[in-house]
Amino acid sequence: MTWHLLGAGNIGTLVASYLIQAQQPLRLAGRGGPPVLRTLIWPQGAQRTLTLPGDDDAPISQLLITTKAQDTAAALRPLLPRLTDTVLLVRLQNGLGSLDGLPLPDGSRIIEGITTSGAWRDGPRIQVVAENDTLLGDADASPEPPAAIAALLPHWPGARWCTDIRRQQWLKLSVNAVINPITALNDCPNGALCDDPARQQQARALAEEADALLRRLDPDWPGDTYGRALAVAQATAANMSSMRADLRAGQRTEIAFINGWLLRQADRLGMSLPSHRLMVAALPA
Ligand SMILES: NC(=O)c1ccc[n+]([C@@H]2O[C@H](COP(=O)([O-])OP(=O)(O)OC[C@H]3O[C@@H](n4cnc5c(N)ncnc54)[C@H](OP(=O)(O)O)[C@@H]3O)[C@@H](O)[C@H]2O)c1
Repeated sequence: MTWHLLGAGNIGTLVASYLIQAQQPLRLAGRGGPPVLRTLIWPQGAQRTLTLPGDDDAPISQLLITTKAQDTAAALRPLLPRLTDTVLLVRLQNGLGSLDGLPLPDGSRIIEGITTSGAWRDGPRIQVVAENDTLLGDADASPEPPAAIAALLPHWPGARWCTDIRRQQWLKLSVNAVINPITALNDCPNGALCDDPARQQQARALAEEADALLRRLDPDWPGDTYGRALAVAQATAANMSSMRADLRAGQRTEIAFINGWLLRQADRLGMSLPSHRLMVAALPA
């Protein structure tokens, strides 16, 4: 069955290379016209140009979603009439909640993915920075992946099926909700979070508010978002966070689907997260 790819950007193109490696038929979604050529360069210098055929307007039974979270609803809405009753949607994004409120078919199945792989635009090409862990799973904590995912996993370096994807997403989101806005607003690399008392104080406030909320949502929440955020900031000290990169490029950020997602959950519970609210107000969404 054909995969449609919504969002042939950095991560989408990298995953497209795995789909092609797995000999899975692939088409762009929402982008018609002639095939698009994308060149990927791996860290050791290997280079590969992919030919991604334009949208065919056919029914969509397998959709990989790798748009930025804030672009997803607008990109997906025109495609809704083409989704089959049992469409498989694979959402590989840092932000949470980008499909909320969309009238998806009742029988659709959503696979959530998170990745610590990295790929960035380098002029006309896409530089693969690292192929690290990718976790895929669903909200039902299904013990096995659907067949289409099982067929893909052997061709996707570092990818595995995960039976607690929600916990893993929240662990990643909570760290991102600390590192991303602080590094974006201070225009600093991730490591600068660790060596400045004012930024540390900001980080601690964001982390403690996130932990208070997530503990309400999940009594088994492990907490210590502050410790985890500092460890990630140290391990990626020289890196530029994606939110800082978006802000520098004059683009909208994923803030509404990172800190904003936390705020929406807090609002439902009548909790206030003042530090997160400040960040959401300060960054373009
Ligand atoms: N890049 C990374 O290393 C990385 C790592 C981990 C997680 N992520 C997550 O992966 C997601 C994607 O990030 P990215 O860096 O790959 O972003 P990106 O390079 O900006 O890719 C997004 C793509 O979506 C396309 N798009 C936007 N609106 C569309 C529409 N209406 N129809 C079809 N395509 C549309 C864009 O096309 P145009 O350019 O033509 O608008 C762009 O190619 C984000 O949630 C990010 O947090 C990224």
